[in-house]
Amino acid sequence: MKFFIDTADLAQIKEANELGILDGVTTNPSLMAKVGIKSEAGVLKHYETICEMVDGDVSAEVISTSFNEIIEEGKKLAAIHPNIVVKVPMIRDGVKALKWFSDNGIKTNCTLIFSAGQAILAAKAGANYVSPFIGRIDDSAWDGVQLIAQIAHIYQLQGFKTEILAASIRSALHIVKCAEAGADVCTCPLESILGLLKHPLTDIGLAKFMDDAKKMKEQMVPVK
Ligand code: G3P
Repeated sequence: MKFFIDTADLAQIKEANELGILDGVTTNPSLMAKVGIKSEAGVLKHYETICEMVDGDVSAEVISTSFNEIIEEGKKLAAIHPNIVVKVPMIRDGVKALKWFSDNGIKTNCTLIFSAGQAILAAKAGANYVSPFIGRIDDSAWDGVQLIAQIAHIYQLQGFKTEILAASIRSALHIVKCAEAGADVCTCPLESILGLLKHPLTDIGLAKFMDDAKKMKEQMVPVK
């Protein structure tokens, strides 16, 4: 499973990248607004900076909702860097645009996926990725991970090549569950990625190793 980070915050992207496990980045209009981007030029420049930082796919979301505008905006985003993936919402014109981008060699990520039917439609239209929103599904008392498993099952049966990109991840456990359910990619906040590191027995075990190593060092006879 690939690891993407779900943020537009450059410091967090740098930190995750330095771990050596980062395969890409996803953003959305809310995450771009959060880091204070205010102009179209600012958006394009920010995506360029992210692409220069990370060697992997970078999802850049369109904010248009009609076919012609999605195409124009998507072409502009795709021209920034070969690693840009145009993120398109699961709406009628979005599906048409996914097909157009697919026919014209532009990579896409279909976002706001909340059902298996939507995932089938996006795959038929040629999306490279689909983004089911796990956390938001859980928030409404449905099972987000179950949706990942269902889509993975359908894609395997039907031979769809679209990759399942689990999004709206809220915890380290979500990452583990999505891996188990067959997600191809998990896009996570930095704190969920770092949450995977944690286990109290690791801390206790390391403290004991360090303590024993210190005692051993004190008794060591130096090599002549
Ligand atoms: O990028 C899309 C998705 O990951 C949003 O997550 O936490 O706003 O539901 P969240």
